[in-house]
Amino acid sequence: MSAVLHEKVLDNSLNLLLEGFPFIHNRVKRFHSNIFKTRIMFQNVICLHGEEAAKVFYDPDKFMRFQAIPNRIQRTLMGKDAIQTMDGEGHLHRKAMFMSLMTPDSLYKLNRLLTQQWQAAIHRWEHQEEVVLFEETQDLLCRVACAWTGVPLINEDVRNRASDFAAMVDAFGAVGPRHMRGRIARKRAEAWIEDIIQRIRDGKLKVPENSPAHVIAFHRDIEDQLLDPHMAAVELINLLRPIVAIAWYITFGAVALHEHPVARRKIAAGEEGYVEMFVQEVRRYYPFGPSLGNRVKNDFTWGGHKFKKGTLVFLDVYGTLHDEQIWENPDEFYPYRFRYWDGSAFNFIPQGGGDHFTGHRCAGEWVTIEAMKVSMVFLSRYMEYEVPPQDLNFSLERMPTYPNSKFIMRNVRAVEHAE
Ligand code: HEM
Repeated sequence: MSAVLHEKVLDNSLNLLLEGFPFIHNRVKRFHSNIFKTRIMFQNVICLHGEEAAKVFYDPDKFMRFQAIPNRIQRTLMGKDAIQTMDGEGHLHRKAMFMSLMTPDSLYKLNRLLTQQWQAAIHRWEHQEEVVLFEETQDLLCRVACAWTGVPLINEDVRNRASDFAAMVDAFGAVGPRHMRGRIARKRAEAWIEDIIQRIRDGKLKVPENSPAHVIAFHRDIEDQLLDPHMAAVELINLLRPIVAIAWYITFGAVALHEHPVARRKIAAGEEGYVEMFVQEVRRYYPFGPSLGNRVKNDFTWGGHKFKKGTLVFLDVYGTLHDEQIWENPDEFYPYRFRYWDGSAFNFIPQGGGDHFTGHRCAGEWVTIEAMKVSMVFLSRYMEYEVPPQDLNFSLERMPTYPNSKFIMRNVRAVEHAE
């Protein structure tokens, strides 16, 4: 048995905020170890990195989510006591409800809505001098998310609602005003969606029976009770907000298309399988979630190291996506690497690892991939635009991060194809 390497510090929370995404990977390299102990939020935290670590992290016999997600993240990003915090049978039951919304039919509907919204957006943008893609795609995705779930949304409200969902995401690694903006945005969104849940239950708002809003409004928990309206709102927002969050990836994808014109031409020409590999590489290369948290459920030993019940454990998401043992030249943007990817559920973990149905892996991963594919095709094949000089750099210290200029386009023109 060997002791986990212990970084001797009073507390590393400030360094985590200052170093941002590479915080764990920096130490993995410095200590030459995929496991080390440090102190964050004045408690011991074991940090894990890499594929083997991800396998153990997703073992439900060893870990639980109970008290693993800080209150400040629940109050902004995901909502209090949402599915992300649940364990055991309760989690399985709630997850089955989410996954029942991810059928091929449902994804097809989403694809159609996205296509319509992209077409409408391009025609609008043709009349604009300048388009700020990061904000425009938040609006576009907010329209899609509401239409797909069954939440009514009038034109006049789109910008405010989209910006509230974006503020919840933008708050997850923040302290101070950015955190407060996320909290306020969440309160406003929860009040709005709770009212919608009530009206659906009272029959005052008619939505299709198989729509996500209807399914969540009438979902029964393992005690056969309806969710309380606030909880139902939190879970419906767990669909709306992350769909808007795809704007982060689409904006990074636009940067990648701009910096790799050959890739853009391949997508425009419809090269077999290429757009999917491109999208996967965007999700690997560009930073979104830095790490994930779990608590040790019962004492166990792994790799000769002792894990004590109740210890907080972080899994290095960003570092695992940039690990040279897994990815050759990890800091190079190279979509074809996915031709040879082994398909492991534990080495490519931008939206979590393991099983979608039984574990905490992102319920919306397929939605994300689909939405990005449609978006990359629109940006490559169905429109032309100029990218004026601007600052496309992004900071690895800011969590979450996006290109500084938010990707500005000029002279947008629709391109018609006879198909
Ligand atoms: C969970 C990332 C889009 C719904 C997660 C997790 C991550 C993540 C890292 C946690 C995985 C874990 O704890 O092991 C992302 C990213 C997205 C995205 C980066 C795209 C920008 C979506 C979409 C939806 C969605 C589009 C729904 C339409 C969920 C839900 C969970 C979740 C419901 C909780 C799953 C559970 O606890 O069992 N996501 N996600 N996400 N995501 Fe996503």
